[in-house]
Amino acid sequence: MSTKVALITGAGHRLGAATANKLMNAGWFVFIHVRSSRQAAQDLLEHAEVQNDRKCGAILQADLTVDDELKTLVDEVKNHDLVKANGLSGLVHNASFYSQSKFEETTFETFRNLNRLHMEAPYFLTQQFLPELRTSKGSVVGIVDTSWGKAWEGLSHYTSSKAGLRQLMLNLAGELSPDVNVNCVAPGAIMAADWEAEHFTKVLEKVPMGRSGQPSDIASAVLHLLEASHLSGQVLHVDGGWSIEDA
Ligand SMILES: NC(=O)c1ccc[n+]([C@@H]2O[C@H](COP(=O)([O-])OP(=O)(O)OC[C@H]3O[C@@H](n4cnc5c(N)ncnc54)[C@H](OP(=O)(O)O)[C@@H]3O)[C@@H](O)[C@H]2O)c1
Repeated sequence: MSTKVALITGAGHRLGAATANKLMNAGWFVFIHVRSSRQAAQDLLEHAEVQNDRKCGAILQADLTVDDELKTLVDEVKNHDLVKANGLSGLVHNASFYSQSKFEETTFETFRNLNRLHMEAPYFLTQQFLPELRTSKGSVVGIVDTSWGKAWEGLSHYTSSKAGLRQLMLNLAGELSPDVNVNCVAPGAIMAADWEAEHFTKVLEKVPMGRSGQPSDIASAVLHLLEASHLSGQVLHVDGGWSIEDA
């Protein structure tokens, strides 16, 4: 059986790293994309290769908001022997930047960069890898969140670009069918950002399951969607029931 190959963006730390780890342990070869966390990715990859006693992946570095770096990333993946031989079975749009600032004070540059990261890069990468995804009857997963239809204080720049990613994924689920499956995972409160510890505790009070999720919960959901042959156009909320509660 040929090796399944995936690219996960922003996979050096946290949820992306947990997802890369899960896939590598499940037999996948993973392109671990980072912007700056090369050492963390190196440690992750070495650990997986010792544990599984095989070559489990490769690390690729690029700022996804910079066009030339995006193009280089695409070339590196396309020219890899495993991709030439097997295509690309999984593409996970995980890279993100989560920061809170008042609408009046958020710079246009911040807004534009989030649109580049959450929408333009996923659009471009999915388009560029379409031949390789079709070759392997592959699957695309966009990591969105639970903000859909809600008003999150100081986060319009973040939630609107995530909404764009969600709609892009759902539209592509229709357009790329039946060759390529496209879905979303919507994490709830999983890992707090440095600046939101207090807010995170308040959110957990609204979560029916009364606790945060684990990075491995997201990783399991992504792996499930990547390997499910009859699922497309779905948004899988991994949020302990938070999305059914009022904002
Ligand atoms: N954490 C949660 O509880 C939660 C809740 C809801 C949704 N989510 C979503 O789940 C995903 C993972 O969450 P997370 O908290 O693990 O994410 P995160 O730590 O905020 O970001 C993941 C990675 O994105 C990369 N990144 C940031 N800017 C980039 C750029 N310009 N170019 C390329 N890569 C860039 C960073 O890579 P480097 O470290 O290499 O610089 C970072 O490690 C995200 O899409 C997030 O929106 C998370």
